[in-house]
Amino acid sequence: MTSLDLTGSESTEANRLRSRVAAELRRSRERSTALTDAVDDDDLVRQHSKLMSPLVWDLAHIGNQEELWLVRDVGGREPVRSDIDELYDAFQHSRASRPSLPLLKPAEARGYVSQVREKVLDVLESTELSGRRLVENAFAFGMIVQHEQQHAETMLATHQLRTGGPVLHAPEPPPAAPLPAREVLVPGGPFTMGTSTEPWALDNEGPAFAVDLAPYWIDAVPVSNGDYLAFIDAGGYDDQRWWSEAGWAHRTAASLRAPRFWERDGDRWLRTRFGVVEPVPPDEPVVHVCFHEAAAYARWAGKRLPTEAEWEKAARWDPASGRSRRFPWGDDDPGPLHANLGQRHLRPAPVGAYPDGESPLGVRQLMGEVWEWCDSDFLPYPGFAAFPYREYSEVFFRGDYKMLRGGSFGTDASAVRGTFRNWDHPIRRQIFAGFRCARDADGS
Ligand SMILES: [Fe+2]
Repeated sequence: MTSLDLTGSESTEANRLRSRVAAELRRSRERSTALTDAVDDDDLVRQHSKLMSPLVWDLAHIGNQEELWLVRDVGGREPVRSDIDELYDAFQHSRASRPSLPLLKPAEARGYVSQVREKVLDVLESTELSGRRLVENAFAFGMIVQHEQQHAETMLATHQLRTGGPVLHAPEPPPAAPLPAREVLVPGGPFTMGTSTEPWALDNEGPAFAVDLAPYWIDAVPVSNGDYLAFIDAGGYDDQRWWSEAGWAHRTAASLRAPRFWERDGDRWLRTRFGVVEPVPPDEPVVHVCFHEAAAYARWAGKRLPTEAEWEKAARWDPASGRSRRFPWGDDDPGPLHANLGQRHLRPAPVGAYPDGESPLGVRQLMGEVWEWCDSDFLPYPGFAAFPYREYSEVFFRGDYKMLRGGSFGTDASAVRGTFRNWDHPIRRQIFAGFRCARDADGS
């Protein structure tokens, strides 16, 4: 969401905000609908992987969260279906157990989310968007837009895990553009990390604070499949030197040999992507690798993963002004020339694409393409305050998680920013995650 333009009368501004919220809600619903209409009812209720919910659970859960926050809390209205709250509470039931619950059938789930949405549009029209922190700048609406878009990415990951032919289609992403350098030097010194001003930022993104970093080099683009193949061909998966203790234990227990969804075919590698089996494209950022694989590759390459602060400085710091921007290219919301976001393309673009989206230092494809693993644990920033509920972030701090930054081709523009923080277990591979490398500048 753009920073608010506070010119004009207050009512004009509030109406503009309402129109924007309505458009974002509509866009997120179009995405959920496309992902759930693409398959039949059997497919919607089936569990395609123990890691994921049935798609029909995601759909009704989206509606239930929207009902809880916008119909009941913000709107103060009567519940639409209070009897199903417990079924769709992500903290009550693990993903693996969700198919055995008495879930709403696909037609019921569709009816439910439409009914909730109708009430929400009414609440949006009649709610004063000020006076209470939850509604200031339409925050709760923004949170629900992002929640639905986050589930749209989760549902896209479920599509990647389902077997069968392709049901999703999208045009190819743009080609690579010439890249002046493969690595960029980020000078040492302080920068502002996090945000205290972004209106729809989630609690863990703030408050803004100063971080002083030593100089470092960071890759100008994510690590490609071709780069990663060199690691495989060099025996990287069989050489314990490159792996952390936990990484080696996991690699051994899970028999990791290559990124998930890859299989060897004679002397080449094939991959399955949304039901299409195709040769692995060497120029595309590698995706579906876990944190341990990323860290092992980096060590083999004589580098390391960036920390979360290093990633964010490379993405947001403008050496000319010394300030941190919302996005690598500036403060404007992401457009189609900036980044591969929003499921416009169902694959990452080749490394070197999106020159208009590069950071002032010349680092490319930080937003979109693939979530990037960072070598940092999920910790609160100094001065963190949980809002609007502890379960959004606080209960996950200090857990077995590593940070992911920048969003993927499956992430919507409303659900990612230069400050946005994502986290997952270091063994996860079904997410659209890859990485880029960094190294210390001192002594190099
Ligand atoms: Fe959720």
